[in-house]
Amino acid sequence: MKKTVIITGGTVGIGKATALKFAKNGYNIVTTSRSDDKAKKFIEEFKQVGYEATVYNVDVTKEEQVEKLVADTVEKFGSVDVIVNNSGIAGEPKFFAQTSKYNMRNMVETNVMGLYYGMRYGILQMLEQETKGKIVNLASIAGLNGIEFAGEYGATKHAVVGMTKGAAIEYATSGIRINAVAPGAILTDILNDVIESGQLTAEDLGAIHPMKRPGTVEDIANAIYFLASDECPFMTGVVLPVDGGYTAR
Ligand SMILES: NC(=O)c1ccc[n+]([C@@H]2O[C@H](COP(=O)([O-])OP(=O)(O)OC[C@H]3O[C@@H](n4cnc5c(N)ncnc54)[C@H](OP(=O)(O)O)[C@@H]3O)[C@@H](O)[C@H]2O)c1
Repeated sequence: MKKTVIITGGTVGIGKATALKFAKNGYNIVTTSRSDDKAKKFIEEFKQVGYEATVYNVDVTKEEQVEKLVADTVEKFGSVDVIVNNSGIAGEPKFFAQTSKYNMRNMVETNVMGLYYGMRYGILQMLEQETKGKIVNLASIAGLNGIEFAGEYGATKHAVVGMTKGAAIEYATSGIRINAVAPGAILTDILNDVIESGQLTAEDLGAIHPMKRPGTVEDIANAIYFLASDECPFMTGVVLPVDGGYTAR
């Protein structure tokens, strides 16, 4: 039977490249967007390259919507073999004390609680399936190291690392593998907003890596696909840096 992947927030950026990677490998694609326009555009672009995708309107900060996303996917395709918890937002590129508690709360709701719901309902479904499943979470180099002007964002991504490792150990003998990728700087909307704010340039962002360039969305999609594949059955609880050497320092 054809396998099914859910990728939250997959109509743009890293999620979109990940959707394409799984589609090329024969998966049913389920993704989300809170924007009907983005959903329509994505489905159209996907069709042009020969693939179909289902896009649900989901806000990951709303637990019942994530629960429904999993239930609707099972109803339509019969299983959830992989869930990629990709939805996320960045912080304000400011000195820590200049940031707002509103933005901090929003980030916790999206990057921590949203991902927690995705893991929780994903695991509950996978436990019921004979074939179990794989979860891949989007952490960040800011979840492994301290990064200036990313203290709050880093806090949420450290939480992703904690959830990934703890749950991976708990379900290690249940047939569910749980891993994360930790991207370096990838030029998607999340960083374009930072660039547009005038705080940093694309060159600045590239220069933080030993490879002296930003990564591509495909670099991350390939790593996500690998962790979700049957090529690494002994890997769980891994937070895989894909960062041009950044965390090697
Ligand atoms: N780009 C980087 O340099 C970088 C580095 C390290 C880690 N990451 C992580 O990689 C992931 C993807 O980032 P990206 O660079 O591809 O960013 P992006 O292009 O800005 O995409 C972010 C996605 O998150 C979704 N999202 C945001 N808030 C949401 C909410 N409340 N409910 C549901 N979906 C929500 C958006 O979906 P809608 O269509 O609903 O708006 C959008 O599709 C994030 O977790 C990010 O933290 C990125």
